[in-house]
Amino acid sequence: MKTIILGAAGFIGTNLAIELLKRKDSEIILVDRKLAYFAKTFNSDYPEAILMESPLDITMDFDIIKGCDVVYHLVSSNMPTTSNQCVSQDLELNVLFSAKLFESCVKNGVKKVVFISSGGTVYGKISELPLKEDAQTYPITSYGLQKLTIEKLLYLYNYMFNLDYRIIRLSNPYGPYQRPNGILGAVTTFTYKALKDEEIIVYGDGSVVRDFIYIDDAIRGIINIADSDNKYKTYNLGSGKGTSICEVLTSIENALHKKLSIKYVEKRTVDVPANYLDISRYEKFFGKLNPIPLEEGIKKTADYMRKALL
Ligand SMILES: NC(=O)c1ccc[n+]([C@@H]2O[C@H](COP(=O)([O-])OP(=O)(O)OC[C@H]3O[C@@H](n4cnc5c(N)ncnc54)[C@H](O)[C@@H]3O)[C@@H](O)[C@H]2O)c1
Repeated sequence: MKTIILGAAGFIGTNLAIELLKRKDSEIILVDRKLAYFAKTFNSDYPEAILMESPLDITMDFDIIKGCDVVYHLVSSNMPTTSNQCVSQDLELNVLFSAKLFESCVKNGVKKVVFISSGGTVYGKISELPLKEDAQTYPITSYGLQKLTIEKLLYLYNYMFNLDYRIIRLSNPYGPYQRPNGILGAVTTFTYKALKDEEIIVYGDGSVVRDFIYIDDAIRGIINIADSDNKYKTYNLGSGKGTSICEVLTSIENALHKKLSIKYVEKRTVDVPANYLDISRYEKFFGKLNPIPLEEGIKKTADYMRKALL
């Protein structure tokens, strides 16, 4: 079997690639915009990984997927908090790119596309919590809208050409290889700031609720869903539990045994007040997810940061 990961040097891609390489049941091709972005571990621990440098936009040579059985689509030009600043450009970059990718998948005989969608943004703010896969979808960010549109494109390509797919509506993963740049990933960013004794900026009063999942648990879930064959193609994937930003801050204080310096600033309109996922469909088919508790995940993330980033 041959598997290609598009966007493989990022947070999810790196963790996914490492896990797939450990399993040794597929040839793995990793694609991203710069070879230098790939974690050093791919050359040292997994020399069999094929690393490829390519743009992942409409200028890319879509025939690089030729001969691949499975395509993991992990590409996104933006993130939820900033996407509304460039709605039309955002839709063009992500939706058009995905349509061209799926066309190429059909042309090149790819068997399955695995798309990482967003459990945190496709539903919006009107549906009841915890969010089930069949809840109404009214995204309040263009990021959520592009994810939903790409999901619908997959349905269409399956309808027209029988291209198989899995959609994973992932919540808020955190952990090693996530860049602590303060834009995305509250747990990772706050943990990094705490380790460096820097001030943590919280938008709003810290009551915003999210569904945080340690990356290893998320990767296990992604691979289970990707490999599955049952009547569902779309799955929520998260811890299934809501945790407020204030609770995250307390967990970091407990895990690191230190008092944090926190500055509260005005809340953002792009943040839905609360979001956590119903993962009963996942657990029905793959068994209990049993994600590790947040405090334990923070300790693991901090251990990684001490070794790799500080
Ligand atoms: N991290 C999260 O909280 C989260 C949650 C739900 C869904 N997702 C989705 O999962 C996917 C992966 O997320 P991530 O956190 O690993 O993101 P990331 O930003 O860490 O990684 C994305 C990778 O794709 C590459 N990339 C993006 N656009 C490219 C382009 N035009 N040309 C070449 N390379 C390009 C980047 O260089 C980067 O290495 C994305 O689609 C994201 O929307 C992420």
